[in-house]
Amino acid sequence: MSFFNRLVIFFMPLVPKPIVYLFAKRYVAGDHLDDAVKTVKELNEQGIMATLDILGESTMSESEVNGYVKEYLYVLDKIEEEKLECNVSLKPTQLGLLIDQAFCYNNIKIIVAKAQSLNNFIRIDMEDSTCTTATLDIYKQLQDEFENVGFVLQAYMRRSIVDLKSILHLKSNIRICKGIYIEPRDIAYKDPQLVNDNFTYLIETALQSKCYIGIATHDEKVVWHALRIVEQLQLKKEQYEFQMLLGVDEQLRSILVDAGHRLRVYVPYGKHWYAYVVRRLKENPKIAAYVIKALFTK
Ligand code: FDA
Repeated sequence: MSFFNRLVIFFMPLVPKPIVYLFAKRYVAGDHLDDAVKTVKELNEQGIMATLDILGESTMSESEVNGYVKEYLYVLDKIEEEKLECNVSLKPTQLGLLIDQAFCYNNIKIIVAKAQSLNNFIRIDMEDSTCTTATLDIYKQLQDEFENVGFVLQAYMRRSIVDLKSILHLKSNIRICKGIYIEPRDIAYKDPQLVNDNFTYLIETALQSKCYIGIATHDEKVVWHALRIVEQLQLKKEQYEFQMLLGVDEQLRSILVDAGHRLRVYVPYGKHWYAYVVRRLKENPKIAAYVIKALFTK
């Protein structure tokens, strides 16, 4: 991380939230489900699928967790009612993982069962390395009973290839991304080229075994390798999809859609947008420039 970026992150808490929101709004659909529905409709009109995420993580109160469960059930009904091309992504720590793993499993199960009844799909996001084993366990337990659930592998994690090989026979639906949390070197690769190489290795291994892959990246080098693998394996468009975050590299998005690839945009919404945006900032130094610009152009 550059010195400039570190500086911006350090001073971030001093910046009034309405100003942070000026640049945040490109990454977040809004505070309410109606805002997110509007964004998803606009994406669907462009031939782009979506996945909806209610912002929030590390929930420590059971009643707050129960509130999120209710909200996800309502989101699934709304997707059905509005006939959106859209599934749902959720975070285990938002749904009680830090309180109790069995409690979290039951909460996710309620949401997956509801999604199944509506012919929809639930993606379990992957959080920091302290959650990896529990998240995979929850996924494995759920997939014994349900087909409409998938998980995420992070290419920066040294363990990901082992995790992938342990579930290859399940022909899972897996999102592969680089990984966003700050991890120590013994857990995660630090060299960006190595992360990209591992990303390609994971995609290739999963696609060869007929898993359905969500290739979640804005890095055109990774996209190029994914397209190379798709071509070499002579895959059909229905065997994989690209995934990108709302507000990031819309040009690459159009290039992929115009070339006929399936593409899904991750659409987060909710009042807990601040933590999400700070994470984006830590990840991409270029955003620091947007913050400064927002500060001085208001
Ligand atoms: P990289 O960071 O190298 O970015 C490539 C280029 O894209 C950059 O040069 C920049 O131009 C542009 N770019 C990237 N991020 C940008 C941003 N925020 N704003 C503006 N430009 C940006 N992580 C995780 O740990 N668990 C998860 O469950 C998920 N889920 C997930 C879903 C989806 C759909 C996506 C796209 C990503 C995630 N991630 C995630 C985040 C992921 O791990 C990773 O941190 C980001 O996607 C950035 O990595 P890239 O592969 O885009 O490459």
